[in-house]
Amino acid sequence: MKTFLSGVKPTGKPHVGNYFGAMKQFVDLQNTGEYTPLIMVADYHALNFIQSANDMREQTRDLVLNYLAIGLDPTVSTVFKQSDVSAHTEATWIFDTITTMPYLMRGHAFKDAEAKDKEISVGTFNYPMLMAADILLYSPDIVPVGQDQKQHVEYARDTAEKFNRIFGETLKIPEPMILADVATVPGTDGRKMSKSYSNTIPLFSTREEIQKLVLGIVTDSSGERPENVYAIHRLLKSEVELAPLYESQKGKYKALKDALIEDLDGFIAPIRNKRDAILTDASIIDRVLSEGAEKAHAIANAKLIDMKKAIGVL
Ligand code: ADP
Ligand code: TRP
Repeated sequence: MKTFLSGVKPTGKPHVGNYFGAMKQFVDLQNTGEYTPLIMVADYHALNFIQSANDMREQTRDLVLNYLAIGLDPTVSTVFKQSDVSAHTEATWIFDTITTMPYLMRGHAFKDAEAKDKEISVGTFNYPMLMAADILLYSPDIVPVGQDQKQHVEYARDTAEKFNRIFGETLKIPEPMILADVATVPGTDGRKMSKSYSNTIPLFSTREEIQKLVLGIVTDSSGERPENVYAIHRLLKSEVELAPLYESQKGKYKALKDALIEDLDGFIAPIRNKRDAILTDASIIDRVLSEGAEKAHAIANAKLIDMKKAIGVL
């Protein structure tokens, strides 16, 4: 069996765009049955942005809950917190000593911050080395990530090669798996659905919330088909399935919005109910994380010992 490993930052309430653009893909990959999945909550990475203990705790638990609700199966997938496995930060230090500043200064995140004249934390600067540790400690076959994370996987590959060159063959070179670019999910105003534009449909919305948000979708009356309604509808149904509806209700925006409400609720209700059901005994979240930590710890520590032997501290 092959292993895949990926990480997710606990960044708060997910929306329909996050689901179709990112979250769903881990569940799909798990369900192929071809991989042993390792899913990591990147809480130490998130510490660069979330600097409130309450937010960190809540958002971490929420992330696990949300993934369980959309179908991540903890008997198949190992779900763990980065901070639970101290090998990650130890390996980061080892990588730091063989990594140069100019090399890290080529990072997209660093260059963006610099272009905006922002002061960045050492943690943000060093983000790629912690991510290299996240990956290399588990020797995964593939690392499924979005296009925006491709450079970080390349950093991990370069770092593994450099370590092996200096200290001898120790680390497996991972392959990135760039997840097919799911067409950008549009928000209620037609722009990319994003927290920053306040145009989202939250993934676990109630029916009433869905209703309110869909009725608020911006439509212009120039065409027969309300494009912003149709674009969201297309996530749930194929062109062929939608054609008769949009043909028979041509120009009737209210009826088309009602149909979208029905379909969105049909898609969201089961995962919303599952989320609520898990919440009736939320101790499962702790169990998943503590079992995950144990499994992850065993794998990562064995590799860290190999690294320590290779560098001569053991
Ligand atoms: P936001 O733009 O709401 O802040 P994030 O940057 O937290 O979203 O995105 C988390 C993940 O969800 C990323 O992998 C991103 O590519 C994906 N994603 C976010 N918004 C969309 C969207 N509108 N369509 C497709 N994928 C999206
Ligand atoms: N940096 C990734 C992101 O922002 C999250 C992440 C952390 C990750 N460690 C990882 C992804 C290891 C893949 C593998 O999305």
